[in-house]
Amino acid sequence: MRKPEIKKYPTKEKMAGGAATKLVTLASQKIESGGRFSVALSGGSTPKLLYNELVSRFHDRLDWGKVDFFWSDERYVPIDHPDSNMKLALDNLLRPLGIDDSHIYLIDTSLPPAEAAEDYQDRILAYFNRDPRFDLILLGLGADGHTASLFPMTKAVLEPTHWVEANYVPKLKAWRITFTFSLINSAYNVLFMAAGADKAPVVADIILKKSTFPAAKVTATDRLYWYLDKEAAKEITNTRG
Ligand code: 6PG
Repeated sequence: MRKPEIKKYPTKEKMAGGAATKLVTLASQKIESGGRFSVALSGGSTPKLLYNELVSRFHDRLDWGKVDFFWSDERYVPIDHPDSNMKLALDNLLRPLGIDDSHIYLIDTSLPPAEAAEDYQDRILAYFNRDPRFDLILLGLGADGHTASLFPMTKAVLEPTHWVEANYVPKLKAWRITFTFSLINSAYNVLFMAAGADKAPVVADIILKKSTFPAAKVTATDRLYWYLDKEAAKEITNTRG
């Protein structure tokens, strides 16, 4: 695998701007080649910065009707819950861009957790004719080294065959629905966005050492990208940006 592209930005807003530009560039290339672009959105709070950039700077600079949207993980809450990753994207990206519902692949959190995961997996397998390879998967990073909902010491981290898994997270006392490493690492491109000083130690551990954090297990078949703000990058040196 090619070395990850590591970019350091002065602010988290500039980091989100860089990620937006990369997403649009990859999408444009795929669409110009005659295809549709499949992207899995990440969870947490950072993606809102990306959504703001995409809506404000790129709303008329991509054929958004040729993009299909998924999520790399979701909290097991109703879609109208304030903690929902889907709600964050619908409110701040997908509705503002006028994305058709048929191009939005929601996780059905009204089902029991295991059924919700299986249902999502079935729809992803159908979309990709049973050989799932996302054009781009976006990921966040937790200060504990988790990514998506693959938290340290949880079952889904070790899931060898499923592509989507219901994962109970004891520290949160909550269920999550998450891509597994099998699905993440089959993607052509995977892009981490990490901002804030609390992420700096785990970023350094993953980038510089033989880390055992779950996020360190992420690879990509074409390119892995680490987009960082200055705070998250402060314990690593010699990075572009
Ligand atoms: C979530 C994601 C989680 C998130 C990271 C970063 O739904 O919260 O599972 O992996 O992407 O914790 O979150 P922030 O962007 O809020 O720092």
